[in-house]
Amino acid sequence: KKIMTNLKKVLQNAYKRHYAVGAFNTSNLEITQAILSASVKKKSPAIIATSPKAIDYAGGPKILAAMVKEASRGVTIPVVLHLDHSKTYELAKDCIDAGYTSVMFDGSRLPYNDNVRITKKVVKIAHAKGVSVEGEIGIIGGKEDYLKKRKIVLADPKIANDFTKKTGIDALAAAVGTAHGLAADAPERIDFSLLREINKIVKKPLVLHGASQGISDANIKKAIKEGIAKINIDTDLRVAFAKEVRALLKKNKTVYDPRAIIGSGRDGIMKTVEKKIAVFSSQNKA
Ligand code: 13P
Repeated sequence: KKIMTNLKKVLQNAYKRHYAVGAFNTSNLEITQAILSASVKKKSPAIIATSPKAIDYAGGPKILAAMVKEASRGVTIPVVLHLDHSKTYELAKDCIDAGYTSVMFDGSRLPYNDNVRITKKVVKIAHAKGVSVEGEIGIIGGKEDYLKKRKIVLADPKIANDFTKKTGIDALAAAVGTAHGLAADAPERIDFSLLREINKIVKKPLVLHGASQGISDANIKKAIKEGIAKINIDTDLRVAFAKEVRALLKKNKTVYDPRAIIGSGRDGIMKTVEKKIAVFSSQNKA
């Protein structure tokens, strides 16, 4: 029996019924547990995302795939394991082979034709195994993994449509004004008329990156109405983790058990994921 679901299935429902599923980034056991516990509690589908740097930190895609698979055994919600922002075909392939059910190929720094060519190649091997693919058009700004901070380049709706048709991707991350990271580093906004136009012609689930900070809940909800079906959250989880661990260490000068220390961070992440699920309206959709 299949334990994990692919992204396409989870997003088709969300896109049709106007809610979004959070894609929460993990790099270890506790963050994964927090995402899963919150999702189970709220009866929301869960997308667990790992960036290339998180994969290096954990020791490769196989260890993360095994962890997510075991942690998901017996849960009653759909769970997607997603590769976030792969810059190479090879890493996408390694993740597919390891058991990921969704991969993003991010060719946003490449010339357009190369982005199309490699994304298409990823789609071919992914779809052969029932794995979904996300692509990127334009440049989502901010600081991301191994990359230096980049300026936003908004997506062009016609190019977004051409890219989606040519590659056969299941979900599109189109740059509509947001940026990865803390709001202080990247003042964020959503260009709603651009988003509306892209949704009108692309007609596929759209992905909002860099959505942790700087965007009001009201604007997140508005974006969901305009076709956003997957919302990536990383920074807010890190902030919640750090806040709880810092508070615990300040309050308790003698604590030395890593489980108590990391466990406090895990609780912080769980609460944050629950709040995001409420804003995205994905509760009771599992
Ligand atoms: P934040 O770090 O701003 O939450 O963005 C996460 C993201 O988009 C990962 O792809």
